[in-house]
Amino acid sequence: MATVETAETAVAEDGGVRRRDFINIAAVSFAGAGAVATVFPLVNQMNPSADVLALASIEVDISAIETGQSIKTSWRKQPIFIRNLTAEEIAEANAVNVSELRDPQTLAERTTAGKENWLITLGVCTHLGCVPLGAAQGEIKGEFGGYFCPCHGSHYDTAARIRKGPAPTNLEVPLHEFLSDTVVKIG
Ligand code: FES
Repeated sequence: MATVETAETAVAEDGGVRRRDFINIAAVSFAGAGAVATVFPLVNQMNPSADVLALASIEVDISAIETGQSIKTSWRKQPIFIRNLTAEEIAEANAVNVSELRDPQTLAERTTAGKENWLITLGVCTHLGCVPLGAAQGEIKGEFGGYFCPCHGSHYDTAARIRKGPAPTNLEVPLHEFLSDTVVKIG
């Protein structure tokens, strides 16, 4: 009888210990979850919001773009064309009677003083938003030697101004600034 009582007591103590352990562990786990829940919003607040990311500027190394070449990059999730115009393309753009253009702008107004050879535009047709051809090697440049949008046939000239087709305005020139001769900041 005494042996049985001892055994029952042991079992009871064992069980008690296990229950207390479980209660302690559960409490710690709950506290841990609470700490995570408290920390997460703080960390999350430190991340830039989607709005801030969308406004962020980019810096592009243009040193490898030779005269007559273009590159495509992206900014704010939109394609950007960066073109290093040849002397002929600049002359062609400057020979145009601006008053006859649908969206009258000179090349100088669309580029940076002293860097008129760098034509930086969005690669987004102003008609319905297709990406025009002409920035990649071998792509058709349209009737005016700039860009061509095959969606509905918009032709842009060497200053990326609309010359023919349904697009209402020139390819947009984003805000940009040359940080050096080889680096341009867009945005
Ligand atoms: S979207 Fe470019 S011509 Fe229509």
